[in-house]
Amino acid sequence: MTHSGLLTVALLVATTLAFDDGVGKMPAMGYDTYNAFAGDYDADLCLAQAKIMQESGLVAAGYTQFILDDFYAEKERNKTGYMVPNATMFPDGIPAFSAQMNALGVQLAAYGDRGYATCGGYPGSFGHEYQDLQTWYSWGMTYLKLDNCNFPYDNITQQNIYGGYLPMKDAIAEFAQQNGVTFTFSLCEWGLEQPWIWGKQIGQSWRINNDIKPYWSSIATIITQASYQYWASDFFGHNDLDILEVGNDGKGTPPGNLTYEETKAHFTAWAFLKSPLIIGTDLTTASNQTLEILGNKDIIQINQDPNVGASISPFRWGNNSYQVGNPSYPQVYWPSDPMSPAQYWSGNSSYGVLFMLLNLQDTTQNMSFSLVESWAIRSGRQYSVYDMWLHQDMGIAVR
Ligand SMILES: *[C@@H]1O[C@H](CO)[C@@H](O)[C@H](O)[C@H]1NC(C)=O
Ligand SMILES: *[C@@H]1O[C@H](CO)[C@@H](O)[C@H](O)[C@H]1NC(C)=O
Ligand SMILES: *[C@@H]1O[C@H](CO)[C@@H](O)[C@H](O)[C@H]1NC(C)=O
Ligand SMILES: *[C@@H]1O[C@H](CO)[C@@H](O)[C@H](O)[C@H]1NC(C)=O
Ligand SMILES: *[C@@H]1O[C@H](CO)[C@@H](O)[C@H](O)[C@H]1NC(C)=O
Ligand SMILES: *[C@@H]1O[C@H](CO)[C@@H](O)[C@H](O)[C@H]1NC(C)=O
Ligand SMILES: *[C@@H]1O[C@H](CO)[C@@H](O)[C@H](O)[C@H]1NC(C)=O
Ligand SMILES: *[C@@H]1O[C@H](CO)[C@@H](O)[C@H](O)[C@H]1NC(C)=O
Repeated sequence: MTHSGLLTVALLVATTLAFDDGVGKMPAMGYDTYNAFAGDYDADLCLAQAKIMQESGLVAAGYTQFILDDFYAEKERNKTGYMVPNATMFPDGIPAFSAQMNALGVQLAAYGDRGYATCGGYPGSFGHEYQDLQTWYSWGMTYLKLDNCNFPYDNITQQNIYGGYLPMKDAIAEFAQQNGVTFTFSLCEWGLEQPWIWGKQIGQSWRINNDIKPYWSSIATIITQASYQYWASDFFGHNDLDILEVGNDGKGTPPGNLTYEETKAHFTAWAFLKSPLIIGTDLTTASNQTLEILGNKDIIQINQDPNVGASISPFRWGNNSYQVGNPSYPQVYWPSDPMSPAQYWSGNSSYGVLFMLLNLQDTTQNMSFSLVESWAIRSGRQYSVYDMWLHQDMGIAVR
């Protein structure tokens, strides 16, 4: 690398450390079509989801962004380079559909890709960044999830993944300057190049892992990985643990098989680790338990705490005897068994000190810890214990 190249790098770091463009202080909450439907959705199905979100109180609980994930466009842009929505999926056009969603308290949100094409082969935003922001804004969208498929080789762009997200970051800044509206920017880079280190300089959240699946092995692997990256989340920048699988037991191929207890653990971990909470199940067939989990106000208020942005952190890993890599990412190794995440976690909140305990066995266990193990507990105090799933006071603990 040349001397001037080194200088440029130093300047870049100096000017981007404090990146905060005023949006996305707390983790995003909403819905994404991908886990439940992949490409098999349309305006009516989305409206049916939004209707249940409103009627069941999920909109009031904070789930307001509705991400139209991949597959919504025609394969070709029109003659002047604009994306064209699929007219079969959106027979009345997207602006009219968007207005109907707004009437239910829900705002449409965008999916795009930083390459030539999305992962499904639809138009990508490479070279069309500003134009696509215009299109999405005309559809009532101000939140963007940007995927990571089909980008030009680095021997052409010479900018690596970080640089590959800069054109959209710059377009968002220019759009804000021209229109007074700042898009919330959600990076979907699958954790390939350590976005927990640099993502905060680009957007408000970054995926840390490959796509989630509705099995405990997937949930456990993600929690394990996050146990080494929890420190990266704070106000305006969040590890994204991926779309929720709450409600997907028995659904999909092969069928999801999270138990009720596993699903509660999944939701608790996503909320307390300050991940975006994005629903990914067909709510028209959702059970009361699914709606109860997604709507747990005690848990959600921790995720959306306006005073404490930090994630909980492990104070005991529990089972840490393995050195196993994630087979999807041979370049990333975690010094633990991905199937056995940290079991004892704690953190602070506006509502008290938090504890999350994960029992990784298939049988009921007694788990115990000493209050002194949590950094947030103070000596000489009495603490009233509250169970955020039973919504009950459980007595007094003393340090
Ligand atoms: C448009 O949507 C219809 C209905 O889902 C689907 O059959 C068709 O393949 C879609 N078009 C494109 C280009 O994906
Ligand atoms: C392309 O789409 C944009 C946005 O809908 C529209 O304004 C423009 O007229 C279209 N161009 C052509 C050539 O159809
Ligand atoms: C650029 O990189 C790609 C992928 O590694 C490779 O297939 C291609 O041959 C390279 N092109 C040049 C000009 O080096
Ligand atoms: C859940 O499903 C996955 C994928 O089919 C499978 O590998 C796993 O063994 C199943 N777990 C249980 C407890 O049935
Ligand atoms: C959900 O709860 C409501 C009200 O308690 C009840 O009427 C309904 O039958 C329940 N639905 C399911 C699928 O259990
Ligand atoms: C530790 O992990 C291994 C492998 O997953 C498992 O067999 C063992 O039961 C675990 N032990 C505890 C105490 O969780
Ligand atoms: C926990 O957060 C609350 C709310 O911001 C704050 O008042 C309190 O000092 C914090 N406690 C610790 C131990 O950081
Ligand atoms: C947990 O502890 C209680 C009280 O000591 C005891 O009655 C119960 O059998 C224990 N359960 C297990 C699974 O060890």
